[in-house]
Amino acid sequence: MSKLLVTGKNKLYGETFVQGAKNSALPILAASLLTNGENLIFNCPKLSDVEASCEILRYLGCNVKRYDDTMIVNATYVDSFDIPDELMRKTRSSIVFMGAVLARMGRAKLSLPGGCEIGHRPIDMHLKALKMMGAVIREKHGYLNCSAPKGLHGAKIALPFPSVGATEDIMVAASTANGTTTITNAAREPEICDLAEYLNSCGARVYGAGEGTIVIDGVDKLTASKHTIIPDRIVAATLMSCAAVTSSQITLKGVIPSHLSSVIPVFEEAGCRVICNKNEINFIAPSVIKSMKTIRTMPYPGFPTDAQAVLMAASSVANGTTVFVENIFENRYRHISELVRMGANIKTEGKVAIVEGVKSLYGANTNATDLRGAAALVVASLCAEGKSEISGVKYLERGYESFEQKLSALGADIKKI
Ligand code: UD1
Repeated sequence: MSKLLVTGKNKLYGETFVQGAKNSALPILAASLLTNGENLIFNCPKLSDVEASCEILRYLGCNVKRYDDTMIVNATYVDSFDIPDELMRKTRSSIVFMGAVLARMGRAKLSLPGGCEIGHRPIDMHLKALKMMGAVIREKHGYLNCSAPKGLHGAKIALPFPSVGATEDIMVAASTANGTTTITNAAREPEICDLAEYLNSCGARVYGAGEGTIVIDGVDKLTASKHTIIPDRIVAATLMSCAAVTSSQITLKGVIPSHLSSVIPVFEEAGCRVICNKNEINFIAPSVIKSMKTIRTMPYPGFPTDAQAVLMAASSVANGTTVFVENIFENRYRHISELVRMGANIKTEGKVAIVEGVKSLYGANTNATDLRGAAALVVASLCAEGKSEISGVKYLERGYESFEQKLSALGADIKKI
């Protein structure tokens, strides 16, 4: 089992390239199942979650190859409709394969998805939407047996909450359904727009992605295409958190600053200078960051739940008190006990966490239990006095490509053992 060894207090300096977005790559890989021909998916990050999606594609009969950051997927000869439990359990976003397999094969058999333990993660919206589109779904012993005897058809779907995964699942399934599908209260995340862009490049007719209503006119077939994955806004927020706690100046290359419009003002409030150019952010942190106004996680364009943990780690060494309200997931504070081990002063009550900044954290042995929690422990260790040992690195590797190498190139004392 690998661990990260970090000796804190090094300043970071220099440029770093922000990887492609995991949360775009995963649904796009699932959507590629609907295409014939060879897809070239550029800027595809090297992550265990991405590898898990590729394993599912291969199992279903796709030819999948990686050349550096480019993934080549050929789904012309897909011949299976069942996904084994051990593959489904590897990621949460494997659920997007439900719509994709059903649309492609007219049947799908899969178990409930895995992913990080950040609370009860139901899939009721996915199931209800696909049923409205004509799917017959039977659930038994943790398995979903889905069929669409007459093919999927368009439907008017009003989501009770703008679920990212459900919006993606419906978009994919609706792309080749018979007729028009309308999703109201759709998720508006940049990754939704990226998926729509990919689908449209394959011949789909998806309109309104990024807005609350998405309309999909079903087409007969999709043809493989070339697509470049957008940069990962959460990795960018994590790198900014790393710089914020180490009084550092770094440049993020390959970012889209507008995707961080709810995150950048929080760092500015903390006293950081954030200079945005087209695909670049220059980030300059003060010697000590200030506390921030209440951070409430919300669906996009609100503050992302995925950036809550890393900002919390940063606020634990801010001058003053920062309040967090986690509105998206019910159990997304598992990093707090580990931050407290490192000397952070954090109290929680339900979905509220109150962080009283301390002068310094100290190195400790900590254990990550989810992806963003693992990133928060890296942020905390970089500014802690002395040595830290972080176990549970496999969680970090779900979403961060060669993270310790990137940080060490910027001057951090961090290595994987
Ligand atoms: C995606 C992201 C994840 C991010 C989250 C919220 C991917 C691969 N993962 O996860 O990193 O933290 O969006 O921005 O893109 N819900 C239901 N029923 C459903 C579906 C969701 O109740 O059928 C609830 C969830 O339990 C959660 C909320 O809706 O409380 C939001 O979940 P959702 O937006 O679906 O998140 P994911 O797609 O799982």
